[in-house]
Amino acid sequence: MQKSILITGGAGFIGSHLVRLFVKKYPDYKIINLDALTYAGNLENLKDIENEHNYQFIKGDITDPATVGRIFANHNIKGVIHLAAESHVDRSIANPLEFINTNIIGTVNLLNAARMQWKDDPKNHLFYHISTDEVYGSLGNEGLFTEQTPYDPRSPYSASKAASDHLVRAYYHTYNLPVVISNCSNNYGPNQFPEKLLPLAINNIFNNREIPIYGKGENVRDWLYVEDHAAAIDLIFHKGTIGETYNIGGLNEWKNIDLIKLLCSIADKNLNRKEGASEKLITFVKDRAGHDKRYAIDASKLINELGWEPSVTFEEGLQITVEWYIKNYDWIKRVISGEYEEYYNKQYGI
Ligand code: NAD
Ligand code: TYD
Repeated sequence: MQKSILITGGAGFIGSHLVRLFVKKYPDYKIINLDALTYAGNLENLKDIENEHNYQFIKGDITDPATVGRIFANHNIKGVIHLAAESHVDRSIANPLEFINTNIIGTVNLLNAARMQWKDDPKNHLFYHISTDEVYGSLGNEGLFTEQTPYDPRSPYSASKAASDHLVRAYYHTYNLPVVISNCSNNYGPNQFPEKLLPLAINNIFNNREIPIYGKGENVRDWLYVEDHAAAIDLIFHKGTIGETYNIGGLNEWKNIDLIKLLCSIADKNLNRKEGASEKLITFVKDRAGHDKRYAIDASKLINELGWEPSVTFEEGLQITVEWYIKNYDWIKRVISGEYEEYYNKQYGI
């Protein structure tokens, strides 16, 4: 029987890149994509592979135990790669409960179903939980997050992800559920919903709209190209050690203001604008509540033990990303045609 892998959240940003990678690279696996298609989920992201023989989409909500239980009962699920989540910090500040529901309750539903289904043969299965570096809290000017850094989440989003990580580990220790966890830094690339900094800025540049920078733009993030995250997930899924955690990061720290200036100059070149034209759109706005100062990942365990390395430099990745958004401007227009404008007005008071 074909080995079925359940990927949750496969219609989202990172999930769609991961689903594509697995469908193309592993024709012998059946890839089942379970996604509720929230505002962040978009089947258009997977148009190119939707008819592949080894791909199946199921629209469903991980917070519903019956849906999750049915999938485990009807398919021979050998592995789960769990990405479905509410993922945007600003939305978590506005509405924490949704994050508790999806990120914590949804994860427990999946853990329960896997535990029940795999109890007689735990060895030949794997529950892989995809998490974020934000669970570690906020760094000062020095230091990096390692796998040993104590958890110190500060936003409702990161607290909900931290809770889900703890529960995954609890199922490993309590029920011997075979699990692995990775915590990754900020991703960028094609198909990211334009509520996150980079696609939001790109969209605003296209429209000559102000680019909102929180506070003074001094906060630092460690940026990784989304396909390099997907490649790391592939490696950890196949070669990672059960019960372990792996940090994934780009060794690529940028202050928000410097990042946006670089983006503006790449955009000017690609849009044939006068050098400096897009930078004029930068506008400093009220800071995010509890805004974490700096994230930076020590990925040496993943690099040394599993041989992972990023495939593109940041300049290459940004260039690919800007070109993709220019070429796929209709994609942005479609994803912002729903509740986006309402969200944007509430968030930025414009
Ligand atoms: P995203 O918001 O783009 O996509 C999330 C997907 O999950 C969407 O397709 C959505 O429809 C689906 N979903 C949401 N609630 C659901 C539910 N109740 N049931 C089923 N599906 C549901 O998110 P992303 O940026 O692709 O992040 C994916 C995962 O990676 C998340 O777990 C996130 O915490 C983690 N992560 C993200 C980043 C990043 O920079 N984006 C970095 C590290 C880790
Ligand atoms: P974001 O893309 O929301 O990712 P995260 O908060 O998960 O790191 O934000 C990246 C950084 O950019 C973060 O420091 C907040 C900042 N930011 C802005 O300055 N302006 C914006 O409009 C947004 C969305 C983010």
